[in-house]
Amino acid sequence: MPMIFIAGGTGFVGGHLLQALKKEGRKVRCLVRSEEKAELCKSLGFESRIGDITDRESLKGALEGVSTVIHLVGIIEEDSQRTFEKVHVKGTENLVEEAEGSGVKLFFYQSALGAAEESPSGYQRTKAIAEDIVRAAGMDHLIFRPSLIIGKTDGFSLRMRELIMSAPMVPVPGDGMSRFQPLYILDWIKCLLTAIDDTKFRNRTLELGGPEQIPYNDLLTAYMKALGKEKTILHIPVGLARLGLPLSGLGRALGLKIPRVSAEQLDLLQHDNITDPETIEREFGFKPRRLEEYLPEVFS
Ligand SMILES: NC(=O)c1ccc[n+]([C@@H]2O[C@H](COP(=O)([O-])OP(=O)(O)OC[C@H]3O[C@@H](n4cnc5c(N)ncnc54)[C@H](OP(=O)(O)O)[C@@H]3O)[C@@H](O)[C@H]2O)c1
Repeated sequence: MPMIFIAGGTGFVGGHLLQALKKEGRKVRCLVRSEEKAELCKSLGFESRIGDITDRESLKGALEGVSTVIHLVGIIEEDSQRTFEKVHVKGTENLVEEAEGSGVKLFFYQSALGAAEESPSGYQRTKAIAEDIVRAAGMDHLIFRPSLIIGKTDGFSLRMRELIMSAPMVPVPGDGMSRFQPLYILDWIKCLLTAIDDTKFRNRTLELGGPEQIPYNDLLTAYMKALGKEKTILHIPVGLARLGLPLSGLGRALGLKIPRVSAEQLDLLQHDNITDPETIEREFGFKPRRLEEYLPEVFS
């Protein structure tokens, strides 16, 4: 059976994918960053390899005997150790180089909706550069650009819960009219498992979103309903919200429950992040689920 290598298997998307691959009885090797996380993979009956995509040496030999690489590593926020450039660009370069030298047949890259080299967002810009690195490699590739992916333990839903639960009013930077197109994690998995096996998807870049394009205000209301909380939405001018960022950091340092939002995330909230809602049905032959069908399960 062909070996699948997963980088990013310990995250939200990767964790769900590992469960699905176990159910399908696939042969898997995971890249992990600690012994503790290696145990997690071993408990599923998978091989593991300790390494970090930003450390070229640590990847040497990791892809021996691998036919498909699934590259899910990404960060949404930078810090002093991890920059978008280092993780998305250099990390992808490292993994692609190792894959090319190891006879890998298919390289899957998880990009993001909105990825564009001219984007003002460092996240979206470096995702686009990483896509180019994957396309230029000497292997078949497949790139997904998903919208928000929602499921148990996803970072967005956890932040929404924190935001809703932490104050009597819920602040929304700007008018909250930017639209999002959430995609259920199990629908993303269905697409991925189909696409890595079906050669019609070779060397393609697919934008994936759920069936609805939802303004942020309505998304927030749907989360309140799922959490059984009714709170007033308070719109804050974006400039003011940006000015308040250092203050919210101070508040957190003092132990106040203020959800973390970076300037980057504030900017991303001001633009539509949507795509053709028919793509999944057209390409994969099924209807992706609507938010109200799966949101209750996210907090169950
Ligand atoms: N979730 C969404 O809504 C969404 C939407 C569009 C695109 N995406 C993309 O989908 C991918 C997965 O997202 P996610 O929500 O599952 O993210 P996540 O929960 O933050 O998981 C990130 C994964 O990357 C690993 N990782 C981070 N830096 C690494 C490094 N230097 N070397 C090796 N592994 C490293 C993490 O390992 P540790 O466990 O060791 O930290 C973890 O397994 C990302 O590329 C993200 O940009 C996500």
